[in-house]
This record gives sequence, C-alpha cells and structure tokens, in this order.
Amino acid sequence: MQKIHILGIVGSPRKGKNTDSLVQRVLDGAKDVGAKATKIYLNDLSIKPCQACNRHPFPKYCFYHDGMTKLYKLFATVDGVVLGTPAYYETISSQTKLMIDRCNCLSQITKTPSGKLHFTRRIQKSKKGIFIWVADCSQNIKPALLSIKFWCQDINLKIIQIIKMHHSDRPDSNREKLLKKAYHAGKLLVDSIKMG
Ligand SMILES: Cc1cc2nc3c(=O)[nH]c(=O)nc-3n(C[C@H](O)[C@H](O)[C@H](O)COP(=O)(O)O)c2cc1C
Repeated sequence: MQKIHILGIVGSPRKGKNTDSLVQRVLDGAKDVGAKATKIYLNDLSIKPCQACNRHPFPKYCFYHDGMTKLYKLFATVDGVVLGTPAYYETISSQTKLMIDRCNCLSQITKTPSGKLHFTRRIQKSKKGIFIWVADCSQNIKPALLSIKFWCQDINLKIIQIIKMHHSDRPDSNREKLLKKAYHAGKLLVDSIKMG
C-alpha cells in the first residue's frame, strides 16, 4: 500500500524558527505513524505574483512555470497539507499570499443565472490539513483565516486543526507545549486521513 503523503509548507523566511519548527513537528508526528513527508520553504521557491490574466490555461494550471509548478503537482497528489505562516500585519506573510494568489486558476468561477458564484474545482484529490499561525502580539486569527479558507476551497483541503502561537519569540510563548501539540496533530492528521 502506498504511504500517506503529507506536504509541509513553511511561509516564514526564518528557517528553524517558530513557524518552521511547528510545521516540522507536525511532519515528525506524521512520519512516526508511517507517513511520507515533504517540506517546502516558500521563501526558497521563486514564485511570481498572479497577473490576473483571466485566461484559462487548461490543461495547465498556470501560464507561468516557476516555483508553483512543483506545488501544483503536489496539491494534486498529496493526502494532507500543513501550512504554517507568521502573522504579518495581522494576516499572513507575503510568501504565503503569493502562493495563495497563484491558486486562483485551480478553480473556475462561473455565475449561475441567479447571479450566484459557482466554483468548479480542478484538483479532484481531497485532502485534510492543519493550519499554523505564529504571532507576536496579534490575537485575532480571523483575518488570516479568511484567505486560508478561500484557498482551501481551491486546493480541495479541509482544515481539521488550527495551532496558534502568541508571543512567539518571548518566554511565555508556550513553545514546548505547542511543539508537543503539533507532534500529536501530525499523528491525528494521518489517522484522520486513513479513516477517510
Ligand atoms: C513584516 C512583519 C510584520 C509583522 N506583523 C505582525 C503582526 O501584525 N502581528 C504580530 O503579532 N506579529 C507580527 N510580526 C511578528 C511575527 O509574526 C513573529 O515574529 C513571528 O514569530 C514570525 O514567525 P517565525 O518566528 O516563524 O519567523 C511581524 C513581523 C514581520 C517581519
């Protein structure tokens, strides 16, 4: 049987810091229950901003061929995704937003005769995932979640757990507790995927 494949996406440019460590712990938990893990640092990929070209690149996902080409392939094949981003200006990092905007072509938006918007997904593989948000002083995750939830529709992902860190670089960040939580979340993610 093929191993469950979990993709970890790090939206912070700081390797080895809070976001990266939490994503890594989720992947560690997943690996310890037999999953295969792939970690991507968005900051290492060259991703051009969406140009809103409004063309339909079918059967390709986008006319650009850059760092997103690899991610599109992974979105179509992996079983689970863990996305971690720092809170930048109350929302998400620019690295994360670049990636999200480039997923606009993954669902085609049409209007029904009554004027309602209808989304047709191009990625059929349904996935489960975890969202990690790392903030210093910000408390309100809702603005970040607005983008994330919209992106989830496009890549066919259901978030089953959210992990929030506050006071990220301070002693009261609950770092050790959250790293344990992330590890267990990785195990639970794989269990949940297995259960279907
Ligand atoms: C450009 C920029 C904007 C930031 N904006 C916020 C913010 O709005 N709210 C907040 O709590 N922290 C903010 N921070 C702090 C980061 O969220 C915090 O340092 C976090 O730990 C970064 O994640 P990392 O440790 O994984 O790199 C900002 C940091 C940067 C560099």
